[in-house]
Amino acid sequence: MKEHIIRALKESCPWQDSLLWFPCIDSTNTRARELARQGAPHGTVLIADRQTGGRGRMGRSFHSPGGVGIYMSVILRPHCAPQALMHLTCAAAVALCDAAESAVGFRPGIKWINDLVVQKRKIAGVLTELGFDSQGMVDFAVVGIGINCCQQQSDFPEELRHVAGSLCSVTGKEIDRIRVAAAMMDALYRMDAQLLTEKARIMEQYRRDCITLGQEVSVIRGDEIRCGTALDIDESGALLVRFSDGQEAFVNSGEVSVRGMYGYA
Ligand code: BTN
Repeated sequence: MKEHIIRALKESCPWQDSLLWFPCIDSTNTRARELARQGAPHGTVLIADRQTGGRGRMGRSFHSPGGVGIYMSVILRPHCAPQALMHLTCAAAVALCDAAESAVGFRPGIKWINDLVVQKRKIAGVLTELGFDSQGMVDFAVVGIGINCCQQQSDFPEELRHVAGSLCSVTGKEIDRIRVAAAMMDALYRMDAQLLTEKARIMEQYRRDCITLGQEVSVIRGDEIRCGTALDIDESGALLVRFSDGQEAFVNSGEVSVRGMYGYA
């Protein structure tokens, strides 16, 4: 990315003087964690044009080629107990939907818990990570987001082609990455300001955006796969599922596949 793009990103960063831009990095989340441990301030934003080791939830990789996506991590220092941040991934996903709506004019859905989807294709993901102080309180939170912006379907590697999409490929519109990145920073800034005081409202919006609710799902934990229906999401972001044997339970980890999406027939 050229100098003028870096300048435009810095000008639109709501956290003043704290934007770091990398042409290529292994992972903005990994680097953000290192910087946070070294004392980087609240609101430090890292943006990369390309990642060689982009990471997703559950140890997965996040395909991060240059010139077509946004790979961003923000360091937050909310000074609270970890229990107060159980909804952070959900809040970041709602912020991502807000950003897409303001930059591109449509609102994606959220596949529980951290995937943004349009037309049954994953266009973005959120990876949040916490660091703790010696008292077990939150020292820092890293909110990482990856958005596929400008890829055509044929640009995705074979194994992702039937599940992934980009803002461009699902809307047919040309996408201005700087505009999307600016909207993303703005939405995360507003999320940060409301994170601890407006949890109920944020989670209400998350339930409205979440396309998993009411759907048939399969919950995969290790070797165990259980089928059921997604009923609700609690204030911590856990998914309430009624399983086919009639039992109801909250799910807060593992993989939840939604019937009809990402190749789950
Ligand atoms: C997921 O799909 O499970 C989450 C993907 C999150 C990807 C973003 S890209 C910027 C930041 N750096 C990373 O290594 N991961 C996140």
